[in-house]
Amino acid sequence: MRESVLVLDFGSQYTQLIARRVRDIGVYSEIRPFNEPLERIKKSQPKAIILSGGPASVWDKGSPSPNAGILDLGIPILGICYGMQLIAYLLGGRVEHSKRREFGPAEIEVADSSGIFADVPRKTGVWMSHSDRVLELPKGFVSIATSENSPVAAMKDKSGIIYGTQFHPEVVHTALGKEMLSNFVFRVAKCEGSWTAKSFADTAIKEIRAKVGDSKVICALSGGVDSAVTALIVQRAVWDKLHCIFVDTGLMRLNEAREIVESFKDLGLNLIHIDARKRFIDKLSGVGDPESKRKIIGEEFIRFFENEASKIEGAEFLAQGTLYPDVIESVSVKGPSAKIKTHHNVGGLPEKMNLKLIEPLRELFKDEVRAVGRELGLQKEILDRHPFPGPGLAIRIMGDITEEKLDNLRLADAIFIEEIKRAGIYDDIWQAFCVLLPVKTVGVMGDERTYENVVALRAVTSLDGMTANWARIPYEILEKISARIINEVRGINRVVYDVSTKPPSTIEWE
Ligand code: XMP
Repeated sequence: MRESVLVLDFGSQYTQLIARRVRDIGVYSEIRPFNEPLERIKKSQPKAIILSGGPASVWDKGSPSPNAGILDLGIPILGICYGMQLIAYLLGGRVEHSKRREFGPAEIEVADSSGIFADVPRKTGVWMSHSDRVLELPKGFVSIATSENSPVAAMKDKSGIIYGTQFHPEVVHTALGKEMLSNFVFRVAKCEGSWTAKSFADTAIKEIRAKVGDSKVICALSGGVDSAVTALIVQRAVWDKLHCIFVDTGLMRLNEAREIVESFKDLGLNLIHIDARKRFIDKLSGVGDPESKRKIIGEEFIRFFENEASKIEGAEFLAQGTLYPDVIESVSVKGPSAKIKTHHNVGGLPEKMNLKLIEPLRELFKDEVRAVGRELGLQKEILDRHPFPGPGLAIRIMGDITEEKLDNLRLADAIFIEEIKRAGIYDDIWQAFCVLLPVKTVGVMGDERTYENVVALRAVTSLDGMTANWARIPYEILEKISARIINEVRGINRVVYDVSTKPPSTIEWE
């Protein structure tokens, strides 16, 4: 059984961060719903359990509560914020309900420098975000830290395996938060810490080899890092029994299709390259509505993929680059978010084609996928490439699509990317791209009046694409990009910079 720490999710915005921090220090961590049945918890044999924070109050009617039996399992437990209040409440302590929120930096005074506070100085800065607080400890517990506002800023039980912190050790604003989590994981829960990109890849390769046996695996390559790393892991497991399919939709960036084919051939992947450019542009001709474009692209993609896959005899598996954040969306206590845009992927394929799924990255976050890719020798250009949407440039040309618009957009986009790479800021940006607007404006070039299109530059910083801020690209670089696009791309006489955050805007324009 792999060594693991389970995080029960009570709806905190930091739940994912807790799991990431624990993995960062070398122990596999997984998020489960707050009401995970006891039997399933026991079956996973976790070395420790962390109860996340959350927006509720233990006094609220119907507030989320774990199966109380988890406190009797004898497994080390750390409750963070709401998690700590729950432990106190469930074990008979007194939690004060307050409408006043303590939010932001605070200083704690440590009273017991063992356990989670080993090697932590007597006074240290932490991050608070709570309204309720523990006023009386449950029987058998002691306070191990105080702050100006919290008589119990941290607590532990006498046996030293159940801990609670009123503050958030998982956020960087808690100066020694990483040390505290490390102390919990290694000193209290006695983990060994064997979770590394290499050990992950080795195990995944062995498991896939055993699962696939003598049959074959198909994988759709998009050029993005997730499908590339998926393919590499499967390749190391089953070698030539993996068949990768790359459908060139004609909606990719400048030279991208060629680069994808070349780099994957260099990696020794068994690659089928389908040139479907004409079909896609024909089908999209005259279509302006974003969701209709997505639908057409999704359907066409599946058609080509299915057709090609059906030629591969004995294929029983489909490898997909599903990541951990995609998986946990569905188990979170927060309600499912409204569908804003339908994201095109190959999700509908396995049932339709009667294929079994292989998803080696299901347990990983994006940065971990990159670490695994690095371990397997994937080129930096693919590893660190900005995410690119399935429908490609089709959703970056507002309105209908023509070859000419695609060519112009590709050129403008290549200039933008080249300049931010040259300025050394590419890796600081989550996504940067151009959008071609169907708007004509008046300009003057030489002595001539011009009446041409506008290109919008979009560059955002983000952790996961769910929220985003516009990148503060220095004016001098923007100036250069604008001048080059207007001079070098035909039909463009104006460049604008998008300064909208997500929400309320989205990253893509369509
Ligand atoms: P939005 O525009 O929704 O984008 O803020 C969030 C992230 O998702 C990408 N995106 C897509 N990816 N198919 C995809 O595979 C799509 O239809 C699609 N639409 C948006 C977008 O590039 C960003 O990374």
